[in-house]
Amino acid sequence: MTATHTVKLRFADGAIRALEVGAEQTVLDAALAAGVPLLHQCRSGSCSSCLSHLVEGEALPRPGSSSTLLASEFAAGQRLLCVTQPKGDCTFELGYGSEEGAQPVVEAHAFVNAIEPIASNVVKLSLELAEGSWLACRPGQFIQVEVPGAGVLRSYSPVSTEADLPRLDLLIRLLPQGAMTSWLTCGAKVDDVVRITGPYGAFFLREKRRAPHIFVAGGTGLAPVLAMIDRIRQLGGRKPPMLLSFGCATPDVLFYLDELELRRQWLPTLETRICVDRGSNGDFHEGSPVSALTAADVRDPDTVAYLCGPQGMIDAATQRLIELGVAPENIFSEQFVPSN
Ligand code: FES
Repeated sequence: MTATHTVKLRFADGAIRALEVGAEQTVLDAALAAGVPLLHQCRSGSCSSCLSHLVEGEALPRPGSSSTLLASEFAAGQRLLCVTQPKGDCTFELGYGSEEGAQPVVEAHAFVNAIEPIASNVVKLSLELAEGSWLACRPGQFIQVEVPGAGVLRSYSPVSTEADLPRLDLLIRLLPQGAMTSWLTCGAKVDDVVRITGPYGAFFLREKRRAPHIFVAGGTGLAPVLAMIDRIRQLGGRKPPMLLSFGCATPDVLFYLDELELRRQWLPTLETRICVDRGSNGDFHEGSPVSALTAADVRDPDTVAYLCGPQGMIDAATQRLIELGVAPENIFSEQFVPSN
């Protein structure tokens, strides 16, 4: 007889689902086999979509698997369910509601509407879904784009929201020798067709939270954060206090400053801090967007934070926000990893 362990999954909406997980199974495989919708994408420990928190029992990575979790995150109980096997009965908490994983991934085609350089190393790619196609993301989630002619996939979080559909706007950082960069700078033209799939990811706005929001974005990590702020603007009712700390390396590579100023005017509860690592000349905060955070920014213990940018910025922001009093379970993050 094969041993199984009872695994409880506690969702953010209070729902609890219990599963029997076989000795050789991962929690994600068992959940999907049992019809329990969990957010996931790569199924190989690399995208963090299936992140959960182990609150009872013991669960370890499947032998031979790899994962993007830091040792400190693992020690704090974080687990990627696609590569996690229970070693006894255990309980995991999920940072989303029990129905949110049921969102189906779809494939769609889209036309290129415009290709607009918005900084020396960032292009805004505007797509329009082909007739009959529909692909809606929660603000913060990402899609995958197949680079025409290269046959490789690249992941981007739209800066536009569902209200803008069928238009989908992406902010794309140009990388030397990048497949997407080569296409955008050498071959792409209006009316080209691209294949996209999505939505993916567990990094999305928790719309019911009314506590203050802190957003920390580095470079094109601004895209998902701006989609979240726009979604909050579109939602009815009182807006939470919001702080956006956004940074780039130098003033000449900053982008979307007019767009941010517009949001500030539309949303009186939004404060923006623009940061550059160097060369601010007094116009911007000099330092990382994490260094612009102060103790006065966290007065409410229920403060929610959304972080998007390179891994080093995410780690520093997480540590700083916890020091300032933000609860770890109220910090949501998405790192971006440049692909070459
Ligand atoms: S599904 Fe990508 S890390 Fe688990």
